[in-house]
Amino acid sequence: MKLGVNIDHVAVLREARKVNDPDILQALYVACESGADQITIHLREDRRHIQDSDVTNIIRFSKVPVNLECSIDEEIIHIVCNEKPHRATLVPEKREEVTTEGGLDLFTHADAIKSAIGQLDQASIPTSLFIDPTIEAITHSKELGAVMVELHTGHFANIYAMLHSSLPYSNHTIKTLELPRNVLEQKLQDAIDALQQAAKHAASIGLEVAAGHGLNYQNVHHIMGIQEITELNIGQSIVARSLFSGLDKAVREMKRLTQR
Ligand code: PXP
Repeated sequence: MKLGVNIDHVAVLREARKVNDPDILQALYVACESGADQITIHLREDRRHIQDSDVTNIIRFSKVPVNLECSIDEEIIHIVCNEKPHRATLVPEKREEVTTEGGLDLFTHADAIKSAIGQLDQASIPTSLFIDPTIEAITHSKELGAVMVELHTGHFANIYAMLHSSLPYSNHTIKTLELPRNVLEQKLQDAIDALQQAAKHAASIGLEVAAGHGLNYQNVHHIMGIQEITELNIGQSIVARSLFSGLDKAVREMKRLTQR
C-alpha cells in the first residue's frame, strides 16, 4: 500500500498566524524521510491553507510524487497545468465547508470535469477523481477519462468515530449518526462493503484505486483489507498524532531555554 501524506494541516497552523512557522518544506522533508510514498496537497480556491508558492516549492523539492488536489475551477486548473504535479485529484469544493464533505458530483458537473481532465491530459498530468464509493460513480469516472479514482472514506470514518471514539460526547458529534450501537455496527459494515464493491469494480475496469478522508490509526485496518485499494491519502490524523508524539519534547526544550 502506498501512503500519501497530506500536509495541508501544517499550512493550516501556519496560516493561523501568517508566519512561516511551521515551515511546510520542513514537513515535506520529514514526511519524505519517514517513508511517505507521496505528498498530497490541496490548493483550495479560498487559499485557506496551501498557497500558490507552496505548490511551486513542494513540487520542486519533493523527493516523492506530488498529488495535487484541486477543484474544477478554470483558474485553478490553469495553475495546476502550469505547475505539473505528478497527478491531479479533482475534488468538490464549497466555500463554507470545514473539509471536503463528499465525492464529486459527476453527473451535474460532467462537462466541466471532462474538460478539466482533457486540459490536464494535454499537460501530461494524469487525473484521479475523488468520488463516493458507488458503482455508478466508478463507471462514470472511467467514461469521463479518469485513470484513477480516490474513494471517499469519510462516511465510513464518521460511523467508525461514532462507534469507537469520544466524538459522540464532544461538540462535534454527528447528529444524523446518533443511533443505537447495533444500527451503527450494521451501517459500518455496509460502508465497508460499499468501499469493497466500488474498489473491485474500479479495478475490474482498469482504474487505479486510492482511498482517503478521515482515516486514522484505529480505523485504517478495515481499509487495508480491501486488496484493490493501492494508495491511501491521510492528513488530519497524522498531523494530530505528531502533536502528541512531539509536544513533550517541544515543552522540555523551551523549559530548558527559559531556565536561569
Ligand atoms: N483525500 C482527499 C481527496 C482529501 O480531500 C483529503 C482531505 O483534504 C484527504 C484525502 C485527507 O483526509 P484527512 O485529512 O481526513 O486524512
